[in-house]
Amino acid sequence: MYNSKIAGLGFYVPENIVTNDDLTQWMDTSDEWIQERTGIKQRHWIADDSNETSATMGAEAAKIAIERAGMTKDDIDFIVFATLSPDYYFPGCGVQIQDMLGMDTIGAIDIRNQCSGFIYGLATADQFIKTGMYQNVLVIGAEYHSNGLDKTTRGRGVSVIFGDGAGACVLTRTEDQTKGILSSHLHSEGKHAEELVVKSPSIKHWVPEIIDSNGEDLSYFPYMNGTFVFKNAVVRFSEVIMEGLTANQLSPTDIDLFIPHQANLRIAQFVQQKFKLSNDQVYNNIMNYGNTTAASIIIALTEAWEKGKIKDGDLVVLAAFGSGFTWGSTIIRW
Ligand code: UT7
Repeated sequence: MYNSKIAGLGFYVPENIVTNDDLTQWMDTSDEWIQERTGIKQRHWIADDSNETSATMGAEAAKIAIERAGMTKDDIDFIVFATLSPDYYFPGCGVQIQDMLGMDTIGAIDIRNQCSGFIYGLATADQFIKTGMYQNVLVIGAEYHSNGLDKTTRGRGVSVIFGDGAGACVLTRTEDQTKGILSSHLHSEGKHAEELVVKSPSIKHWVPEIIDSNGEDLSYFPYMNGTFVFKNAVVRFSEVIMEGLTANQLSPTDIDLFIPHQANLRIAQFVQQKFKLSNDQVYNNIMNYGNTTAASIIIALTEAWEKGKIKDGDLVVLAAFGSGFTWGSTIIRW
């Protein structure tokens, strides 16, 4: 069986920066509250007059990743696109990437696993490579949150957290069994689906019903039971990291770099303390980008790599938790 390894990384965020202070023009919030509870200082939101979307940002990130892999679009065999904010209800963004990058008629799938979307996407690509079906798979995580948030005081518990952006990597075949993705660990618990959800429009509750409510029906805005999600996140993060390490006969002391999904700096710090990791062993960038959901891990991984924080042979651990609930980890020997 083959192994898969990351050959190229890239990320793209829209130019427009929204600081915590900027948010106070729309809602009753403060820089102090947001930084204390989440660690976030600013996020990038697509500007109102921009035509950017999840697919266009994903395409920009993908171009960088493909170039850094020393490849061209024609080397890619398959596209995996993770997002909860696609351009269309259907089809998914993956097919748009095939078109935007002028690729041959290769296959493309979308992954609907929210904050864990990139981990699920990477695991999916890894399986295609391990079985020998494909040699190079493009994995993208991208989100355009800002157009779907309730930017009034009513929605402040959710809207201050999320940011727009995209990241991508090229996963490639290697015959070196000691390098690359060592294992992936995926979980779900659907009974908590409504604790972090955008309920509508859905086929069972379609657009005319929302319009008929004359503004009463707000089910198209994200809802999050923040405290409940936080409590589950710290437990599931810890479990799934240990599961991944144990599966590879490793322990927390073996971790060179831990990159958590950037949900909340306090969650990352809790996990850091639990596993007694130093600041050098954890990479966080939620301060600058907010929570970009399926894009967050791949943006952080790319940024950490760009800063020279990942060396050949390092043990890199990725982990995510979010809506579904879904959660997962990826153990990588770089
Ligand atoms: O990525 C997917 C997974 N997501 C997560 O893992 C997120 C997990 N949850 C969290 O990160 C935290 O629960 C939040 C950051 C979302 C919220 O923090 P919290 O400490 O749980 O605050 P809270 O929701 O309990 O609200 C505390 C107070 C409330 O006021 P009262 O009722 O105590 O008077 C809120 O109305 O803070 C108020 N509040 C705000 N105040 C200023 C909520 N949002 C804001 C805000 N600015 N933006």
